[in-house]
Amino acid sequence: MNTNISLSAPGEVETEALVAVVLDHAEPSPVEKDKKPSLKVATADSAVQSVAADLLASGEVTGKPFETNLLHKPTGLKAKRLLLVSGGSAKKFSSYDLRRIAGTAVRTLKSRGIRSFALVAPSGMPAEESVRAIVEGAHVGNFDPDYYRSDRKDQNIDDLTIVARGDKAALEKAANEARIIGESQNFTRDLVNEPSNRMTPTILAERAKKMSAEVGLKCEVYGADKIKEMKMGAFWSVAQGSDEPPALIVMTYDPAGVPAKPVLGLVGKGITFDTGGISIKPADGMEKMKYDMAGGATMIGAMRAIALLKPKVKVIGIVCATENMPSGKAQKPGDVQIAMSGKSIEIINTDAEGRLVLADGLYYARQLGCTHLVDAATLTGAVVVALGYANAGVFTNDDDMYSRFQAANAKAGEKMWRLPLDDEYKEQIRSSIADIVNSGGRWGGAITAAMFLKEFAEDTPWIHLDIAGTAWMEDQKPWIAKGPSGIALRSLIEFVKGFAV
Ligand code: BES
Ligand code: MN
Ligand code: ZN
Repeated sequence: MNTNISLSAPGEVETEALVAVVLDHAEPSPVEKDKKPSLKVATADSAVQSVAADLLASGEVTGKPFETNLLHKPTGLKAKRLLLVSGGSAKKFSSYDLRRIAGTAVRTLKSRGIRSFALVAPSGMPAEESVRAIVEGAHVGNFDPDYYRSDRKDQNIDDLTIVARGDKAALEKAANEARIIGESQNFTRDLVNEPSNRMTPTILAERAKKMSAEVGLKCEVYGADKIKEMKMGAFWSVAQGSDEPPALIVMTYDPAGVPAKPVLGLVGKGITFDTGGISIKPADGMEKMKYDMAGGATMIGAMRAIALLKPKVKVIGIVCATENMPSGKAQKPGDVQIAMSGKSIEIINTDAEGRLVLADGLYYARQLGCTHLVDAATLTGAVVVALGYANAGVFTNDDDMYSRFQAANAKAGEKMWRLPLDDEYKEQIRSSIADIVNSGGRWGGAITAAMFLKEFAEDTPWIHLDIAGTAWMEDQKPWIAKGPSGIALRSLIEFVKGFAV
């Protein structure tokens, strides 16, 4: 999708469709029946206001978030159509909502076969912030995972114009950066969407290599021999049961002229299919376990964005990719494995495999000199029990690191919620025969999984993101298709930018 900035008056913009945001200025009322919306178009432009006036006064528009109204041949506008998208309460309106409004506009218009439109940046928000939110949200809305359908329509928006006021060069720069982030998020979603027969560890590694060559990243891929040679006993214990070879993907962004430290390590869980192994999962819903590599795909997409945005800080992306399969070679409950760090692990449940591959991934990142770590993983069903589908779980061993991450997360407009990692939980992962067990049992399952990872992050500041409930949209929404969401990528980019000199 091309993005352009226009400083023209909205009424003067020639376009297939001009999109404006409608906000409700009514004061909140405690009595439901007294609630009458007071709707206004969020622009100072009188031409747009006057075309929308009758419709908004008619009482037909409720102003509820994502409601759309389309007018043809709007009098006084050069645009062929005017699309009004409601954004809910004016008081609460933020760039978080604007991203979704932009996504809704894209999905509404593309389903009608329209390929280009212009969106009026709403008044009351700094123009640069609006431009970023609109471009990111539009990219999210433009993605449809329908490649394998013969009836796919290939209807995408090709051109987006943002009608705003301000310094054109600065707004174009913002739009360009947001486009890189939006495209990278969709790159991740493409990887996640592929089924496991078309996204083996080898194919995932090839995609990372191809992307790295395109954007100028160093990318190394190690196979079973190297994984064993490096004594990654936890990673290998998962990989040993599969006929598909595993891949350890290492992408390095090492810009010239930056200090030797910090080195940020982004570590992703890349289970291309999780059957559960010998502790096999029930058949119902098992097909969804093709998205168990979403954390890894997020890191590959994030490295793409970083290589193109060029922040002045070193970053290493690591993906531990393997299937988790039952077979005659598979590990069994009760087995003891020695991780790369030397810690011994008693395997209680072979379905708790994500933490095993990440244990070695995190330790390896530290060996490579990473001073700060972030991992992303579809790690536990328990995080879905705790937080549902709206929030990803955040865990950390370092409050300063968390403050930085929280600021980045808020800027990126992604919902995440911190969960605790108190020493009390450590009891649940004690083993009688080894250093730790790989499953802490039923209670606080997302936390005990994170406690396990903490054993391998040790004293390195570390953030763990459990995206099991948020990496896949169970239903479509007005602003996003059903399927892979690309969650966490934007927060990671903001986080990395926060370290740049
Ligand atoms: N990949 C799953 C977690 C998952 C569940 C991701 C639902 C997405 C949606 C993970 O490997 C897993 O199987 N976790 C187990 C851990 C248990 C055996 C301790 C779980 O959550 O049940
Ligand atoms: Mn599992
Ligand atoms: Zn898994």
